[in-house]
Amino acid sequence: MKMWSGRFHQPLDADFERWQRSFDFDRRLLREELAASRAHATALKNGGNLSSSELITILQGLNQIAEKAAASAAFLDDNEAEDVHHFVEKQLVAVIGDTGYKLHSGRSRNEQIATDLRLYIRASIDQMKADLAEWLWISLDRAEQAGGAAMPAYTHLQRAEPVLVAHWLLAYVEMFLRDAERLADCRKRLNLSPLGSGAVAGATLPLDRRAMAEELGFDAPTANSIDATSDRDFVLEFVGALSLLAVHLSRWAEEMILFSSQEFGFIRLPEAYSTGSSAMPQKMNPDLLELTRGKAARIIGDATALLVTVKGLPLAYNKDLQETQQPLFDAAGTVLSLLPLASGWMKAVEFNHERMQQAAQSGFTNAWAGATYLVQRGVPFRLAHEQIGKAVQTCIERKCELGDLALEELRQLNPAFDQDFYSCLSLQAVLNIHDVPGGTAPARVRQAIADARRKVESMREDVHAHA
Ligand code: ARG
Repeated sequence: MKMWSGRFHQPLDADFERWQRSFDFDRRLLREELAASRAHATALKNGGNLSSSELITILQGLNQIAEKAAASAAFLDDNEAEDVHHFVEKQLVAVIGDTGYKLHSGRSRNEQIATDLRLYIRASIDQMKADLAEWLWISLDRAEQAGGAAMPAYTHLQRAEPVLVAHWLLAYVEMFLRDAERLADCRKRLNLSPLGSGAVAGATLPLDRRAMAEELGFDAPTANSIDATSDRDFVLEFVGALSLLAVHLSRWAEEMILFSSQEFGFIRLPEAYSTGSSAMPQKMNPDLLELTRGKAARIIGDATALLVTVKGLPLAYNKDLQETQQPLFDAAGTVLSLLPLASGWMKAVEFNHERMQQAAQSGFTNAWAGATYLVQRGVPFRLAHEQIGKAVQTCIERKCELGDLALEELRQLNPAFDQDFYSCLSLQAVLNIHDVPGGTAPARVRQAIADARRKVESMREDVHAHA
């Protein structure tokens, strides 16, 4: 039986009927739908609208539906169910008879879908937090293993200054820590219960909204029934946070692809996450990274679709909102499938430290340190910059590095140059002068690793607390 056929004289056009259904995709909300239905049934009974035995029958029926779904995927092959809400009602009546029709007393699918989506996103965030913590932990292991190894840092994709490999990896750690925080923040804001909001104006029966919220692990009931049934901010915010996470993953992937090219040769691709070419026998391609970069585009598309879906809607519920489900599921599913693979890749990748170190030491990455030497001897920076620039010019002509210039020659540029200039150009010395919090001096990087470890540890503890 349909949920709404009474006022209709004619049957629906068959193609339209199929086309407007959402059960194909909202079946994944079954667990959430059953949980929300249990809470509603209990509130009905406590409000005097179900007897104790009816409540027990309904709860048992809902459990049976969960069991059947767990036992066989074919149970969900229902081409009459309009959506997950209709499916549960149908199945409940099939299992317990007409008492099943009592469950929908005083509620609306508008509050149900809003509730299911909040529960679904909450669970997704919890899983993502665990996955992100794993990625971060592995990256911190890799940073620690890299020890004192150096590489060039780039600006404008031109060699700029040497940094520790660990410092470079920590840059990504910071991005993903922020992503985890954004998700945690989103979780906090969405954790309110729409149950009892009805179709738009509030439930038509006395339901204890606070008790329903508590049963479902929400912090409180939502404050306004019109907003609660039509708000999808939490979906937009979640997928917005995911699109930023995906952008970070994409930048990470892009840089790893670049560094794995023969031209850079900084990393060796893990074979377990690469593929070959059907034509060129020598090829090994960074597929995991390329797909990561490509999937970011999809997630950004999902975020855009969601914003545009909601932007023109009058209050309150409109069926357009059904269209927010697929972009949400797509974005969440894409990220959830990706993060463990990115962790596996990160664990397996090999760094070519020799090649990185060599690149870090050539191409005048110590020029700023050279100018700093003069500054410490009282030379105004702009003049020091100019003089080191001239020295670089000479080196380019002679195809040598700054340390190869003779002291007399340097003294013609500025008499402040002395023998100790050469030691300030060494890789170690250049790394060491970046001795500020957040800088690449080795002691600072060790501290930064320890600080990040603490943050990831507390993320892991939270994960266990929610599990
Ligand atoms: N399948 C619907 C959705 O996802 C559920 C809410 C339907 N409400 C309604 N009044 N037709 O939005």
